[in-house]
Amino acid sequence: MEIRKIGVVGLGAMGAGIAQLCVEAGVETVGREVTAELGERARDRIAHFLTRKVEKGQLGEPERDTAVGRLSLTTDVGDLADCDLVIEAIVEELGPKQELFAELDRLTRPDAVLATNTSAFSVTEIASATTRPERVVGMHFFNPAPLMPLVEIVRAELTADEPFETAYAFGERIGKTPIRCHDTPGFVVNRVLIPLLNDCVRVLDEARVTPEDLDTGLKNGAGWPMGPCTLVDLVGIDVHVHASDALYEKTREPRMAPPPRLVAMRNAGLLGRKSGRGFYRYGAEG
Ligand code: CAA
Repeated sequence: MEIRKIGVVGLGAMGAGIAQLCVEAGVETVGREVTAELGERARDRIAHFLTRKVEKGQLGEPERDTAVGRLSLTTDVGDLADCDLVIEAIVEELGPKQELFAELDRLTRPDAVLATNTSAFSVTEIASATTRPERVVGMHFFNPAPLMPLVEIVRAELTADEPFETAYAFGERIGKTPIRCHDTPGFVVNRVLIPLLNDCVRVLDEARVTPEDLDTGLKNGAGWPMGPCTLVDLVGIDVHVHASDALYEKTREPRMAPPPRLVAMRNAGLLGRKSGRGFYRYGAEG
């Protein structure tokens, strides 16, 4: 199926990144946020990163303007009615996701593909809120979506071949490297990465190593592009704790459970880069 128009629901860091990839790839994109202000904020974010590309000579100014112009904003889910593919990137809570998918099921064309960017929930459970679970897939992007090459294309229990391959082909079209997998807790990368990052946080206390030294260790001793503390700050302490909780609930493997140190940071509002403070300090507070 050819994707001519795409909807992205939720324009936070992930949704805005996904929308950026779509408009850069020449696809007409409708972005839906709960308020016009949040939508504008996402458009500004996209324009900012595309302007950086212009400044670095990676993109022409007219191409930037055309790309930004491909994004239309709405607060009304009804405006996604004629989209060929809708990617959901809203809050990581099952209830709101299922409600949204039930609504998308009612108002989009029967042949539209509905995708979720969830990292913590079962795609099958989200698909069960619709009357067309065969057209629901996972498209799991990594943070920051415009820079990380991977997208996991997740086949839920009832996903049919055609929408699954449509999502895979769309991932390639927007410049990603897709991989195919089934709907299991953590899919592929988080199943490995989350317990690994949790181990890293536990090592902070066990080895009495500083976040700076731990990051230096993994970067220089294991070739990581950024250290684990920097990475958890980037992902968001709350997002990481939530994903760990979800994996632990499903697998009952102790390494999946969020380390108490991270839970305490989350409870104290130290959420990483987005709150200005996590393992490190950022921005005005830095
Ligand atoms: N969106 C769009 N563009 C962005 C961006 C963003 N969020 N962040 C940065 N950029 C652009 C900027 O314009 C930047 O250039 P300037 O600084 O000149 O403005 C440009 O990208 C390049 O940025 P960097 O120089 O910082 O790029 P880098 O070479 O240092 O690589 C990186 C950055 C790709 C993030 C690299 O450090 C990396 O691979 N880190 C690991 C990230 C990772 O593991 N992510 C997975 C997290 S887990 C997850 O996401 C799963 C989950 O479900 C929670």
